Amino acid sequence: MLPNGAAPARRSPWFWVRIALWILALNTGVFFLGLFLVSLHEGLAGALLILFTALALAQLFFGITATVVAIRLRRATGQSSLGACTLGVLTALGALVGWAGGMVATLLAAGGGWGRPLRVRGRQTHPGLRVGADWTRGERPDPAGLDEPTRRALEALWLHDAQKEHASVPAFARVAWLLAAVGAPAELLAWCHRAALEEIEHARLCFALACGYAGRSHTVRPMPELLRGALDLEGDALVVLATESLADGCQLEDFNADIAAECAEVCAEPATRAVLLRIAREERSHAEFSWALVGWLLESADDTVRPALEQALARLSAYARPTAVSWHKRSLVARADPAELRRHGRLLDERWGELWQARLVATTARTRQLLAATRSARARLDEKPELALRAAGD
Ligand SMILES: [Fe+2]
Ligand SMILES: [Fe+2]
Repeated sequence: MLPNGAAPARRSPWFWVRIALWILALNTGVFFLGLFLVSLHEGLAGALLILFTALALAQLFFGITATVVAIRLRRATGQSSLGACTLGVLTALGALVGWAGGMVATLLAAGGGWGRPLRVRGRQTHPGLRVGADWTRGERPDPAGLDEPTRRALEALWLHDAQKEHASVPAFARVAWLLAAVGAPAELLAWCHRAALEEIEHARLCFALACGYAGRSHTVRPMPELLRGALDLEGDALVVLATESLADGCQLEDFNADIAAECAEVCAEPATRAVLLRIAREERSHAEFSWALVGWLLESADDTVRPALEQALARLSAYARPTAVSWHKRSLVARADPAELRRHGRLLDERWGELWQARLVATTARTRQLLAATRSARARLDEKPELALRAAGD
């Protein structure tokens, strides 16, 4: 539909093309200015994303309008309007491609972290920051000898980790809720709650490291989005638990442990190194929790869970790898001294990529082993039903 019932007949197609091009220029500015503003204040990200999407929709609308008006003009008067028609199509397509590219860039901007990801309505989220000290608890590193840009970069990196650790707490709360819903054993529920408590401690320690590097404390903002979307359960709870656990737990938390362990190896700062060692040990345990959960799900509901896990395994290589530095913090980190960043336990993104690939291979092999082991156990029970009865009796 055209914007105004009577207007299209009188307006030249170039009028609509110009509007679409102005919106294209405006949205490009919004995107790059937004990256800068979000690096100063992460709380602006949601509003900027809505503005970016609204402008992309407007560009799409006016691009289509220009195309339609150009075609109508040609039919009505025979006047050539190929240029306006082509530009109309290009601006409409540009809106779609630009919006998709912006969304991919936003996903890649997520950066790393040491916890299980929290999603609300499919989008990863974590709390914003404000000044405060109620989440700051733990030993502070010694920032003596570090220049100001390096201290600021280390503060930003540890704050980012603190936010991700904090987000892991409701992420594990959601898993615990789902475990209760599907009648999971007490041991799995206890392990899940233990992991959530460990994530609380990780968040506090990360806030304390950030405070030590910069000499100022931050804490979390409320997360009202958790009141609007929490379980986000589309489909069978058993399948959701299995597929999410494979990616977010078995792959990601084992990878978190790999990264933290190697960061600890290169870290020369004792307080930071102690936190990294603790995170490495406990993230490994969180990954083991997910492996145990997947094993239990296969034992309990093989027919439902097995095909879902096989599909999830096939998609695993497409899982977005966490990056060493989120996009909107790159300029800040680029000003820091790279040798000091390493001495304080920060690895380059290239190494993150190598460890991610190695972990993908290990996760794939272990999942295949698990699928094969549970299949042969199931086959033994099918051959000898009395074993199944005895197992049920136990
Ligand atoms: Fe974790
Ligand atoms: Fe953690």
